[in-house]
Amino acid sequence: MPSFTLTINNDKKVISAEPETPLLWVLRDILDLTGTKFGCGKGLCGSCTILYKGNSVRSCTLTIAAALEGNITTIEGLSEEGLQPIQEAWMELDVPQCGYCQSGQIMAASALLSKNTRPSDDEINRAMAGIICRCGTYVRIKKAIQLAANKLEE
Ligand code: FES
Repeated sequence: MPSFTLTINNDKKVISAEPETPLLWVLRDILDLTGTKFGCGKGLCGSCTILYKGNSVRSCTLTIAAALEGNITTIEGLSEEGLQPIQEAWMELDVPQCGYCQSGQIMAASALLSKNTRPSDDEINRAMAGIICRCGTYVRIKKAIQLAANKLEE
């Protein structure tokens, strides 16, 4: 089986797998980074969202071969230097209910705030579109993004 070097949470990892293997399986099954969740496997639910080159990406549809050139950040890598404002806001507002989709939600919100610390309602809606929460925590998610944005402006 071929080997590839991926940069995950700023750490080089050598992975033996077929090039078309979805990154999600590498994260969960090979590296045991299980904070990234499997929902649909088809790019439809957003629970597997990670950051690739700082952008919000569905890891179930990103192959290893397409992920060789930039840093991959998972929920585990988000707080390497302590909790981020987005995570503090999530905790302060008790956002999760069942919690399954929440790492995907946080990663998408993190990508948004890394580029725009004053997102409008529309910009939040666009950035978070397609990340499904079956518990319907959308109102708290939006409030947490606004709270995190305020924290970043302080
Ligand atoms: Fe990747 Fe649903 S598991 S979008």
